[in-house]
Parts: sequence; structure tokens; C-alpha cells
Amino acid sequence: MHIVCILFLVYTTFVYAQNITFLSINNDTLAFVTDPLYLSYVIDAKVLPNWKSDALIHDTRFNTLMRAISPAWVRIGGTQGDHMTFKEGDTNNRFEDNTFSSKTFQDFCILVQNFRLNLTFGLNLLLREGNLWNPTNAEVLMNYILKLGGKCRVHFELGNEPDLYFAQGYAVNESQIVTDFTLARKTIDKVNFTQRSFLWGPDVASPLYSGYFLNVLKSMPPTGVLDGVTYHHFYDQADIADPVYSYDPLVLDKFLDRATQAADWTQTYQKNTTLILGSVADYTGDGAGGISDTFLQGFMYLDSLGIAAYLKHSIYFKNSLFGTKYSSLLELTPDRSTVNPTPAYWITLLYRRLVGSKVLSVTGSTSRERKVRIYAHCQNGTKNGSVVIYLMNLAVSGQEIEIRNDPMKVSPQYWYLLSSPDPDLSSKVILLNGDILSLTNNTILPELTPDIKPASNLIKLPARQYGFIVFPSANVKPCKVSK
Ligand SMILES: *[C@@H]1O[C@H](CO)[C@@H](O)[C@H](O)[C@H]1NC(C)=O
Ligand SMILES: *[C@@H]1O[C@H](CO)[C@@H](O)[C@H](O)[C@H]1NC(C)=O
Ligand SMILES: *[C@@H]1O[C@H](CO)[C@@H](O)[C@H](O)[C@H]1NC(C)=O
Ligand SMILES: *[C@@H]1O[C@H](CO)[C@@H](O)[C@H](O)[C@H]1NC(C)=O
Ligand SMILES: *[C@@H]1O[C@H](CO)[C@@H](O)[C@H](O)[C@H]1NC(C)=O
Ligand SMILES: *[C@@H]1O[C@H](CO)[C@@H](O)[C@H](O)[C@H]1NC(C)=O
Ligand SMILES: *[C@@H]1O[C@H](CO)[C@@H](O)[C@H](O)[C@H]1NC(C)=O
Ligand SMILES: *[C@@H]1O[C@H](CO)[C@@H](O)[C@H](O)[C@H]1NC(C)=O
Ligand SMILES: *[C@@H]1O[C@H](CO)[C@@H](O)[C@H](O)[C@H]1NC(C)=O
Repeated sequence: MHIVCILFLVYTTFVYAQNITFLSINNDTLAFVTDPLYLSYVIDAKVLPNWKSDALIHDTRFNTLMRAISPAWVRIGGTQGDHMTFKEGDTNNRFEDNTFSSKTFQDFCILVQNFRLNLTFGLNLLLREGNLWNPTNAEVLMNYILKLGGKCRVHFELGNEPDLYFAQGYAVNESQIVTDFTLARKTIDKVNFTQRSFLWGPDVASPLYSGYFLNVLKSMPPTGVLDGVTYHHFYDQADIADPVYSYDPLVLDKFLDRATQAADWTQTYQKNTTLILGSVADYTGDGAGGISDTFLQGFMYLDSLGIAAYLKHSIYFKNSLFGTKYSSLLELTPDRSTVNPTPAYWITLLYRRLVGSKVLSVTGSTSRERKVRIYAHCQNGTKNGSVVIYLMNLAVSGQEIEIRNDPMKVSPQYWYLLSSPDPDLSSKVILLNGDILSLTNNTILPELTPDIKPASNLIKLPARQYGFIVFPSANVKPCKVSK
């Protein structure tokens, strides 16, 4: 009894009086190297039929904004993908009777070429004959892609969130989907693409839902069918979204738990494949108004980017590039002729500029309930030991971070601190070092100027803010490339 009381006192003192976190980066080895195009984008298949592609492709602002966050992977998929068939020879952009036309597909290929995108396309798994997937329409699409003459290299997925099909009144069980993927691989191999097309799946809604994901990984042949293992992550349903979840450590830990499990199972049962986060956002569907389109979404965004890279995910597909109501990086104007950047766009831009594909280990970065979260990579495009950390303070008060790596203590610090002008954080504009981020004009992006601070062994991070800090002379060995 006495011991319990004393322990309780010590524990609470430690938790409530302390606002110091230690930052210690493993300076011997890398944790992981992601795909160079790690941060990539989903375009929901429901956008296929009714986007004004001609207007957008020729729009100056769209081109300026897109070029800055390209090249990248783009995944076309989503619930609607399982309800659409391809109709060749149709020269109109159309979406009638759940078909999409050659013109629509060709427009996507133009987008792919213009911005040097790598495309993965979700095939419709609900085209079935009896218990089996029917590949006929997929073959028509693949042969059409072949006719485009290598202009558009396409990779494939099959089905979207099959673990939730029962909610739509369908069922494709684990052993059946393995048979279907095996057939899909054969179907792709029959087409004489000049370069190999990958097959990724099973794009489950959650790796922890009903054992579906685990059963698929176990029953799938360990080689020869899947090139990449995919799953999705949304923190919650949009209709029960709450602003306070954005900075609740327990809510953020949901992704930590799922990603840990997914990485572990993939390594055990499909170790020859690439682990891919196939679709991720704070909330399902179109996202949540006042959260997904504001400063608030940045906590979940940066935390999931950091965790996924550290837990060996090669590609992170942010949902979405454009076309979802609240969760888009680029918000379409009502006439769909141009776009406006959202707070998530500016985070994306900074991430791609600063964060390299070499991932470092930060001590404690997978422990639960952290109020201060820090992830570290080698700085993008450098070979001299320069490091970038991205970090967030979920707490209601300022927090201090004490640096443990000696050379980092004497490196200057280039701060890119992001904040909200509104105290409730639900602002649709985002501040970089206190200044609003916005386009200078349709052709010029703002300078992303860091606030240069002198070397210090202490980082003071204000309450409920996040950002990036570059340490140009961190001198971390695995970030140095001699040859
Ligand atoms: C990615 O796109 C580039 C540029 O179009 C292309 O050269 C490359 O083959 C693509 N890579 C993959 C894996 O599709
Ligand atoms: C899975 O589905 C197939 C085809 O519908 C069926 O033949 C098989 O019995 C099912 N397997 C299990 C374990 O339910
Ligand atoms: C594909 O290529 C193989 C080997 O090059 C060839 O035997 C086959 O006939 C080709 N198939 C088609 C449909 O062109
Ligand atoms: C992984 O793939 C390589 C090359 O494709 C193959 O040689 C190896 O046997 C595979 N490993 C496993 C565990 O299947
Ligand atoms: C990342 O670094 C590479 C190599 O220097 C550079 O080509 C690329 O443009 C950088 N990425 C961004 C988004 O600035
Ligand atoms: C951390 O706590 C100490 C004492 O409680 C306080 O003086 C300090 O200002 C706090 N640091 C920050 C960054 O708020
Ligand atoms: C390497 O890391 C250890 C512990 O994190 C730290 O004490 C040491 O100062 C670091 N050394 C260098 C050269 O960064
Ligand atoms: C955009 O701003 C730059 C720099 O101020 C200027 O040179 C350029 O002409 C402007 N472009 C347009 C289309 O207004
Ligand atoms: C490392 O390279 C970056 C980018 O070129 C530069 O800003 C930084 O000053 C360099 N660091 C050192 C220690 O030379």
C-alpha cells in the first residue's frame, strides 16, 4: 500500500512537472531508406468522370502548384473504383452507367506525363462471374494502355477495402481474393508491356479489422503475385470528427499500433514485397470540414509521415491530391477550373523540399502517448551529414527538447515553424515563422525562408505547434555519402 502511494507520487511529479524531452539520434546506422517518391498522392476514382481536365491541365496556378510537389506516385482508386468499367473508343469525358472513357483515361495520362508521375490504378474487383473475378474489362484497359505506346506506364491494384465489402452487401473472402490476385498477375503478364507493371494489394481499410489482412498475407504465395503490400489508414469516421482528436496522443497512437502490426506481418509473410500505405488521411471520405482543411490536420499528417517512414513503409499515399471536399491538398474551385492550396499543401511542399529518403532512428519514437513527437531524416539533397527533424508539441503548454548528439548542439538551427493565426487552430491559413503562406501570384511560390537560430542544446517548442528544423552541421555519419 505504502509503496503504491509513493510510486504514484513519484510518477505524477515526473509527468506533470516535466516539460523536457531528450532528442537522441542514432548516429551509426540508418533505420530505413524510403522510395525517393515517399510522399505521394491519392486521386479518388470518383473524380475520374467529372473533373474538368482540360481546364485544369492548362491552368497556370494548377501547374505552378503541381510542379512544386512532383514527381510523385499517384494512386487512382477508392470505393468508386469497384463500381466502374472502362469503355474504349469513347472520345467524351463521361461517367454514365458507371463507365469511364478512353478520353478520361488519356487525360490522366497527360497529367502523368506533365508532372512525371508514377501511376497505380485500382482495378474493379467486383466485376465477378460466380465466385471468380472476371478479368475481361481489365484486359481491355491494359490493351488500350499498350496502344498508347508506352506513353503511360501503369501499375495496378485490385479492389478497394475488401475487408469492408460486407457493408455494401458483397463478400470476397481471403482465400478467394488470393485466387483473384493470382489471376490478376497472370492477366498483367500476358500483356506485353515494355516495362514490368507492379501489382499491389490488398488495400484493406484497416490491417487490424477482423483478421482479413493477416489471412490474406498468410495465404498469398510469398513471391510471384504481390509486389507491394498495401493498407489504408483513417483515424476515424468523418461524421464523428472532433477538433480535440487532432492533438490527442491516444488518437495519434492508433496509427502507431496499426503500422507496427502491418510492418511486422508483412515482414513475416510477404518479406519480398514493398510495404505501402495505400491511402491515409485524418478522416474518411471527404474529410471533416473545419479540421481536414485547416491547421489542425497537420498533427496527424506529420505524425503518420514520421511513423510510417520509421516503420519501413516505402510509399505514403496522402488522400487526396484534389477532388475530396475537405481533405485535398489542392482545393478545386466550384467551377473546377483552378485550385487553391490548403494548409496540407504547404506541409507537403516543405516536407518534400526538406526531408530526404534516408530515415534516422530517434530514441523513443515508437513509445506511446508522447506529447512531443520528433522524427529525423537526412536532409533532402545533401550528403554532408545535414539532418532535418520534424516535430510537434501536442501539449497545452510549451515544451523543451534537450539535444543529446554533440555535433547537433553546436550546429545552427534553421527553423520552419508552422502555426495557426486562430487560437482554436481551425484556421484555413497557415503561418510559416509567423507569416501567412500564400502564392505570390499564379506563377510564383513564396520563398520558404527559415528563421536561422544560433546553436543551442535546447529547443523550445511552443504549445500545439509543429514544424521542421534543419541542422546543417549535424554531422551525422549515415547522412554522409563519400562517393
Ligand atoms: C516513374 O515515372 C518515370 C517518369 O515517367 C518513368 O521513367 C519510370 O519508369 C516510372 N517508374 C515506375 C516504377 O513506374
Ligand atoms: C471463400 O469463398 C469461396 C467462394 O465464394 C468459397 O468457395 C469458400 O468456401 C469460402 N471459404 C471460406 C473459408 O469461407
Ligand atoms: C508477347 O511477347 C512474347 C515473347 O516476346 C511473344 O511470344 C508473344 O507472342 C507476345 N504476345 C503478344 C500478345 O503480342
Ligand atoms: C525474393 O525474391 C528473390 C528474387 O525475385 C528470390 O530469389 C527470393 O527467393 C525471394 N525470397 C523469398 C523469401 O521468397
Ligand atoms: C530533393 O533533393 C533533390 C536532390 O537535390 C532535388 O532534386 C529535389 O528537387 C529535392 N526535392 C524538392 C522537393 O525540393
Ligand atoms: C518548462 O517548464 C518550466 C518550469 O515549469 C518553465 O519555466 C518553462 O518556461 C517551460 N518551458 C516552456 C518551453 O514553456
Ligand atoms: C552519437 O549519439 C550518442 C547518443 O545518442 C551521442 O552521445 C553522441 O554525442 C553522438 N555522436 C555524434 C558524433 O553525433
Ligand atoms: C509574378 O510575380 C513576379 C515577381 O513579382 C513577376 O515577375 C511576374 O511577372 C508575375 N507574374 C504574373 C503572371 O503576374
Ligand atoms: C551541408 O549542405 C547543405 C546544403 O548544401 C548546406 O546548407 C550546409 O551548410 C552544409 N553543411 C556543412 C557543414 O557544410
